[in-house]
Amino acid sequence: MRRKLVAGNWKMHGGLSRNRDLLQSLAQAIGAGGGADYAVCAPFPYLAQTQTLLNGTAIAWGGQTLSEHAEGAYTGEVSAAMLADFGCRYVIVGHSERRSLYGESNQTAAVKFVAAARAGLTPILCLGETLEQREGNVTEQVIAAQLDAVVETAGVSGFAGAVIAYEPVWAIGTGRTATPQQAQDVHAFIRARLARRDAALAQRVQILYGGSVKPQNAAELFGMADIDGGLIGGASLVAQDFVAICRAADQ
Ligand code: PGA
Repeated sequence: MRRKLVAGNWKMHGGLSRNRDLLQSLAQAIGAGGGADYAVCAPFPYLAQTQTLLNGTAIAWGGQTLSEHAEGAYTGEVSAAMLADFGCRYVIVGHSERRSLYGESNQTAAVKFVAAARAGLTPILCLGETLEQREGNVTEQVIAAQLDAVVETAGVSGFAGAVIAYEPVWAIGTGRTATPQQAQDVHAFIRARLARRDAALAQRVQILYGGSVKPQNAAELFGMADIDGGLIGGASLVAQDFVAICRAADQ
């Protein structure tokens, strides 16, 4: 049995006092640990605050993106080592918002994935198709291209210390969740594709589902054979909702 992981993605939300309330509530409710792993991915300026408030709890933290470079004249960028300096365990790589709004390609995701791993961070690699691609029946080709680009750059062994998140673009922030079966089908496809290169490793990789996960649908999604937890956007900003989703993963 793979252990489940629930990771919050705050996106560009938060503020010092709001974060304090949220993080203290999470620390109190799930900080002692449970049957699953938990994490929150905060905006860069709040990583120090997150570290202070979550240190010593069972809740890990991480960044939402990173630079592909180790160091240098890259104004505005943040390196993997800088995230590691603030105790990050995870970093989200290739989120669909990075791809669609900031022009990140499959190749960008691949080099960021490698940069994260090199610094000892666990990349959470996001894969997902748009509505148009799903309706055009090219979901599997899109996911395969996104995944293969990273496998070719990082090697399949790079996935030993990584997490994958399947996030259909049409389900992100829309309230429209993939059905458990729709998600399961893609998760099984991803695992099978990795298994062609390394069957044992493919069995161990955690594959999260993301896209409008809520307390009401989490248990059913997490009950599917290849769904190993969730990457949670909107619901990760509400302590009660995030805790309920974490509890669903504890089962
Ligand atoms: P959502 O976002 O839960 O608000 O749909 C998920 C994500 O983008 O990671």
